[in-house]
Amino acid sequence: MKKLLLVSAAAATLITSSAMPQEKAHPTVKYRHHTMETIKDSLIQMKGILNGKGQSADFGIHARVMAVNAEGFYAASRVKIAGGDTKPAAWENWDDFAARMEAYIADTKALAALPEDADQKARAVAFGKAVKNCKACHDKYRAE
Ligand code: HEC
Repeated sequence: MKKLLLVSAAAATLITSSAMPQEKAHPTVKYRHHTMETIKDSLIQMKGILNGKGQSADFGIHARVMAVNAEGFYAASRVKIAGGDTKPAAWENWDDFAARMEAYIADTKALAALPEDADQKARAVAFGKAVKNCKACHDKYRAE
């Protein structure tokens, strides 16, 4: 009797987990999510600095964090694991999605390559170019 109960408990676990595959996101899907969340944090920090708030001397640090996370997101996307908020369209139009990602990485690298003493105007121009990529890609490939 006890054994039977254990078996049915195990069977119940199996049924539950296979019935709810979305509950436990794949680590790569989670990684995609976290790289994007970090990208948003970097954006907020840089926006603050451009608005005269925050640690101006750290602008380059936030730009570099954004650039490495852009690369991290791209690496996590290249293994093409569906899920999260990435629309199936991203995998279906892979060349377009990859080209957008590469353009975004190039723009964030340019932002990160600004000299430490770059003035606010130069920063704003490079920042504007980098963040233009966000909405354009989200409109097409991110689920709401
Ligand atoms: C080339 C496409 C692309 C670019 C460029 C891009 N994103 Fe994303 N972003 C995505 C996709 C796809 C997702 C959904 C990821 C997932 O959950 O699978 C996403 C998700 C997010 C999320 C929510 C986290 C999540 O997983 O739902 C935030 C916040 C975000 N992006 C911010 C930004 C910001 C800020 C920029 C620009 C500085 C940016 N993204 C640039 C494609 C892009």
